[in-house]
Order: sequence, then C-alpha cells, then structure tokens
Amino acid sequence: MSDRISRRVAAVPPSGIRKFFDIAATMQDVISLGIGEPDFVTPDVIRQAGMDSLTRGETRYTSNSGIFELREAIVKKWAQLYGIEYHPDQETLVTVGGSEALYLALMAIINPGDEVLIPEPCFVSYEAEVVFAGGTPVPIATHVETLFQVTGAQLEAAVTPNTKAILINYPNNPTGAVLDHEYMAEIAAVAARHDLIVISDEIYDRLMYAGQHTTFSSLPGMRDRTIIIGGFSKDYAMTGWRLGFALGAADILAVMRKVHQYTIMSAPTTAQVAAITALTDPRAEDAVYSMRESYNLRRRLLVDGLANIGLTAFEPRGAFYAFPDIRVSGMTSDEFAMTLIDEEKVACVPGPAFGLGGEGYVRMCYATAKDQIEEALERMGRFVRRHG
Ligand SMILES: Cc1ncc(COP(=O)(O)O)c(C=O)c1O
Repeated sequence: MSDRISRRVAAVPPSGIRKFFDIAATMQDVISLGIGEPDFVTPDVIRQAGMDSLTRGETRYTSNSGIFELREAIVKKWAQLYGIEYHPDQETLVTVGGSEALYLALMAIINPGDEVLIPEPCFVSYEAEVVFAGGTPVPIATHVETLFQVTGAQLEAAVTPNTKAILINYPNNPTGAVLDHEYMAEIAAVAARHDLIVISDEIYDRLMYAGQHTTFSSLPGMRDRTIIIGGFSKDYAMTGWRLGFALGAADILAVMRKVHQYTIMSAPTTAQVAAITALTDPRAEDAVYSMRESYNLRRRLLVDGLANIGLTAFEPRGAFYAFPDIRVSGMTSDEFAMTLIDEEKVACVPGPAFGLGGEGYVRMCYATAKDQIEEALERMGRFVRRHG
C-alpha cells in the first residue's frame, strides 16, 4: 500500500450502509427503510429559536465547552429525567453531534493496544472510531435469545489484561433493544471487577416505548467510570444541526475538552441556542412526546405487518428500528437486501453492516411515512411469498 495514506485508516472498510443508499439513489419509486433519521422537520419552536439567534447576529464562536446556559439546561434535564447530577463546567461538554462526543471519549481514554468491548450488532461507527483512536475493537455478538442484550458472562469471557472499556448503546441502533435492569447490573459488575470505563451511547434515550430509560451512570458505583453520550439528532429531530453532548467524570471530560478545543473549537452556535429551547420550552417537550407517539404507531404497523408476512421481528422497545429475521427467504442478509431492492424497490440495510450477530437479519427504519410503510409491507409480502 502507498505510504501516502495512513495504513490504520485505510484498513477500515467503508460503511456498509452507503452502498444501499447509493443504489437506492439511482432508482425511481424506491421506498427507503434504510436511513436512520427522523422523518420530522425539527419542531417549529426550536427552529424559530435558531432563526432568532441568527437575526440577533449571534454568529461567533462560543465557549469551547458550549454556551453555559445550554450546559446548565443539559444537566438540569438529565437530573430531572434520570436523577443523576453533573457539574455544568467540569463534567459537561457540548459537541458536534453524539458522533463527536463518542470520538472524543475514545481519544481521551485509549492508549495503543487498549481493547474496547463492543456488543454487536451496533452503530456502524463504533469499530472504526476505536481504530482511529488507536485501540482494538473486540466485537461481541448479541443474540435474539437475550433480546440483543449483552450478558455479563459474554463480557467476562472477552476481558483481557488490555481491556480498557465497554461501549454500549441502549436503546440500540440497529436492533431497537433496550437494557433490562438485570443486564445493566451484570455489565456494571464486570466494569467494576476489571476497572473498566463504560461509554454509554444514550442518544435514543427519549425514544422508549415500554418503561423508562435508565442512564447507565445512575447505577451504583458507575457514575465516575461512565461517559454518557447524548444528543439532539434523534429525540428532537435535529440531525442536520449537528449537536450532541458528553457527561462524565471531570478528569476524563478535561481531556475530551482538550481534543475538542484543538480540533473543533466550539459546536455550531445557532444549533446551541436552538438546543436551549429544545430543553427548556414546554412546546418542545410536547413535540418530543407527539413524535414518539407517532413512531410508536408506526412501530406497531411495521412489526405486526412483518410478522403477518412471515418475517419474524423481535419486539423493538426503543429507537426507531425493526430488525426482522429474514432466514425464511433462504437468502443471506446481503442477498435479501439486494434482491428486495432490485425486485420490489424497497431499501433496507443488511444486518452484517452492523457487525457480528447481524447475519440473518436486516434493519428497517420506521421513521418513514405510514403509507410508505404500508406499501413496503405489500411489496415485501409479495417478495416473501415468491421466495419463501
Ligand atoms: C447509536 C448512535 N449513536 C450516535 C449516532 C450519531 O448521532 P449524531 O447525529 O448525534 O452525531 C447515531 C446516528 O445514527 C446512532 O444511531
């Protein structure tokens, strides 16, 4: 390989999701269940706050850590929702999406050779980001039998003297799994026993359809070994604003702030001002509630519809994804997704794009218009009857 390019970065394969978007983009009349973002426009009251900020001419950098009022609003909301307190100065950082927070967390803790345990299937960026930060990803397949939750025994079996952290994400992309308390306690026990850091990506925290979200840092003994990754993209339909945050112990957050300072300076100012409204205006809270209700109706439509056509879907309890088992088709996940888009023009993402444990499944996002989901079910029904 040429020396022009970093070997470490070149070795990371491109995202398996892109391939399907690229194919879908060249076709007419495709129903896409492939993209993982809300189909809502950001609620009016939040957009207006961004526009007002621009009208006032607030176009400069903010403090590196983010506007103080926003950091205060974040910690207040987190305390109110989940009963755990953070300091808005030392323990809070406003970032460019949850994506940046995740990257900073890994940059802040990884020394060469450190291993990060990653329950999979998982968000496509995790393994790549661990590699970029100089660490070694250690994937662990989760299974439908444990509702795609990682068990303490699985983690324990993967721990080595080089293990540094566990990277978890519940509610989960791509499975829709959430974490039951018994599994949380098992993860916490492994982290405590081996002195590991837990990076908990809770970007879908408000998108729970059964029960309340529990933040991982609220577990006994976990607060100072957990880095919380949070965001506005999913809960508030703000993907394009590029805003997220990190909460965690002051020593780790100080190092994350340093990387952020040198690489980013500060998160987008307009987005930060809008996010204050997202967290503090009751109309924004009403919007979160009604968007969730709408996802929930579409979740039922898709999951029940899939079951009716013979694609058993595990019951997703959070986020906005269904992860049906497609083995009845006799195809691999890749073949299923390719043939489905080719014959019926429905785009979904093959499970293996999300790592170990994904074979035999595909991800379908139900943040898609109801009539599109109905039409997709029609087409998939035909498809399964033809191939099943
Ligand atoms: C699990 C998970 N974490 C993080 C992100 C990144 O989100 P953001 O838009 O906040 O960078 C996503 C986006 O799809 C995600 O699914």
